[in-house]
Amino acid sequence: MATREAHRLDQARVQALIDPATYAQWDGALDLLDTIRSEAPVAWVDAGEPDHPPFWLVSRYDDVMRMSKDNATFLNNPRTVVFALTEGIEFAKSMTGGSEHLVASLVTFDAPIHMIYRKLTQSWFMPGNLRSLEDEMCGIAHKAVDRLFDAGPEVDFVKTVSAPYPLHIVMQILGVPEEDEERMLFLTQQMFGGSDEDLAGMKAMTPEQVTQIVAASVKGFEEYFAALTAEKRAHPTDDVASTIANAVIDGEPLNDRDMMGYYMILAAAGHDTTSASTAGAMLALAQDPAQFARAKVDRSLLPGIVEEAIRWTTPVQHFMRTAAEDTEVGGQAIAKGDWLMMSYIAANHDPAQFDEPRRFDAARSPNRHLAFGAGAHQCLGLHLARLEMRILFEALLDRIDSVELAGEAKRSSSTFVGGLKTLPLRVKAA
Ligand code: HEM
Repeated sequence: MATREAHRLDQARVQALIDPATYAQWDGALDLLDTIRSEAPVAWVDAGEPDHPPFWLVSRYDDVMRMSKDNATFLNNPRTVVFALTEGIEFAKSMTGGSEHLVASLVTFDAPIHMIYRKLTQSWFMPGNLRSLEDEMCGIAHKAVDRLFDAGPEVDFVKTVSAPYPLHIVMQILGVPEEDEERMLFLTQQMFGGSDEDLAGMKAMTPEQVTQIVAASVKGFEEYFAALTAEKRAHPTDDVASTIANAVIDGEPLNDRDMMGYYMILAAAGHDTTSASTAGAMLALAQDPAQFARAKVDRSLLPGIVEEAIRWTTPVQHFMRTAAEDTEVGGQAIAKGDWLMMSYIAANHDPAQFDEPRRFDAARSPNRHLAFGAGAHQCLGLHLARLEMRILFEALLDRIDSVELAGEAKRSSSTFVGGLKTLPLRVKAA
């Protein structure tokens, strides 16, 4: 089997891969990943900097699928995302008494604890339970369309609809009062978009500044959810926050850190991701008026539009795994302890799996994309995300006559969760 040296990426590509700005230029990012996939589908990425430990980039669909499903060999611990700074890790260790994770959550747990925690809330996110929320979601969707028309005819779809809509829904499910949503949005954008100068409102941040922003965001969450836990213990209600606050494992309530991590992963994972795929679906429809017109009269096209938008946008751009033992991926020897990046963007644009992967094709079938991951950690909110999008687009297709781009759509700079941060549209009411 080939050595690391044989598949070592040159520094120009390494720097591009770990630079958040690369992912703001979508075609450029796809070009980069396509070239790497065809030359070295399992490539060694070594920036030679302590802030960026080396890793294997896995870019073929089949390899990412296999790794995702083999949760015994490919562990989520100790580090799940590539954005890791020495200062950040040291800070996390000092705050947590040794863990590299500032917050412990489903994505940082491995077996057996992972499933025990996941099962606490899993039923909330299953289709049967979600059905009972459909009417409420429909009302929230129509309010979002009202906002679109109130702000129109020229409007930023992200700010008006795609960001606040899933945020409101996930906050309702969590049990966070409406008046606190702005704060949640701010905190999660700091956490996920901390490297994007527009989102964080800062230019040319140093690694230390970025670390401070993330740490401040975590602290903000902790303070907020400590108060919410006290409230839900004193007065339990029918929501996920009450389930977490009152959960018992081995006869003990969850400790504060695990509880905060649970709230945070749900609050954070549940909206920026869906906002990105929702905005992507709208961009695709705005760019193709014939498709918009077809979907308006034939709603059977909607599930295909939703699924393809999720693949086409791939909001979660990667997750990392660590090899539990000596193994191989795609014929490449991997040593125990090696760090690997599963590039969902590259997997979802692998021409061996998807014909013309850059084309938005609502009729794509099969469309077994990896945007939600696979295996034990597969997205807990995938049914919710699909349902939210379908319900919103039902409302949009009912009430919009036509839609077109009114300016340049811009993506955020991020190595982790990414997508459109502005989508200027001109909409005409039906
Ligand atoms: C289009 C929208 C979304 C996308 C693309 C997405 C993507 C992902 C991905 C790629 C993972 C990791 C999968 C893996 O490691 O195999 C994940 C995990 C997760 N997602 Fe989502 N997600 C979305 C929406 C949501 C929503 C609405 C929620 C609701 C709360 C949510 C909650 C979670 C949670 C809790 C996990 C961790 C699951 C675990 O580790 O067991 N996500 N998501």
